[in-house]
Amino acid sequence: MILYTCAELSDFIAHQKLQGQTIGFVPTMGALHQGHLGLAAQAMEECTLVVVSIFVNPTQFNKAEDLVNYPRTLEADTELIHQLNPDILVFAPTAADLYGAQIQAKSYDFGPMATTMEGEFRPGHFDGVGTVVNLLLRAVSPDKAYFGEKDYQQLKIVEQLVAIEKLPVAIVPCPIARNAQGLALSSRNARLTAAQRSQATVVYKMLKKAQDCFEVQDIPAIQEMVKKAFDHEPQMTLEYFAIAPVDTLMPARSKIEKTSYRAFIAVIVSGVRLIDNMQLN
Ligand code: PAF
Repeated sequence: MILYTCAELSDFIAHQKLQGQTIGFVPTMGALHQGHLGLAAQAMEECTLVVVSIFVNPTQFNKAEDLVNYPRTLEADTELIHQLNPDILVFAPTAADLYGAQIQAKSYDFGPMATTMEGEFRPGHFDGVGTVVNLLLRAVSPDKAYFGEKDYQQLKIVEQLVAIEKLPVAIVPCPIARNAQGLALSSRNARLTAAQRSQATVVYKMLKKAQDCFEVQDIPAIQEMVKKAFDHEPQMTLEYFAIAPVDTLMPARSKIEKTSYRAFIAVIVSGVRLIDNMQLN
């Protein structure tokens, strides 16, 4: 089944809840891949009714061309979801239906975490994400919502959003899905040729290297190593590489004992912006 309006969706969900269904929710912007399907499969295991939303959110793009170029494949996406399980409900609202008359982002205070890495390079991005996730969570009213760790900073921002908006939902983090070469699955990969996708695995390789030497090298040395590696990749531009504690996400220059760290990276590969991250210790 596919529903296109918040009104239809909330009627349907209210009815399902009265029948005792537990609702799992996977928000997406479409162009679905195995990573999304993995989230939906996990939701199917843990909930009795699963909703997958497909909505390319205009307020989270800080570059107009990125919004225009974002792949839109609703028919193929719906088919993929229903191949996985025909009982999954697809929700594909229009911007006017979801947002109402004003299609604009709310201004949130997510603290310093929202101004580093993705927040620094994509001003306004997290306000847009927070706004749409709040609207979607209110429309779907799920018991659990599933977010991939590829967008780790987004996941942490969504956890804050749920606290700020006092939404009664459990946020479930899900591990990054990768292809056989290690490239993190992303809708944006569809914009790369096979050769570019293969080049892009250097992103994963550098995260792996950072992980391998994290215990024995200091952070500036690891940063230097990654920077040098991308200096030798003319088709790729390293936007940032940062190592940060998982709870604050504030990029660090030195390590603190008994702290859990992740490495975060954003790279532009032949005009396509890719992000990835990896647990280091
Ligand atoms: O991760 C995404 O695909 C998007 O940021 C999300 C969470 C669906 C909000 O538009």
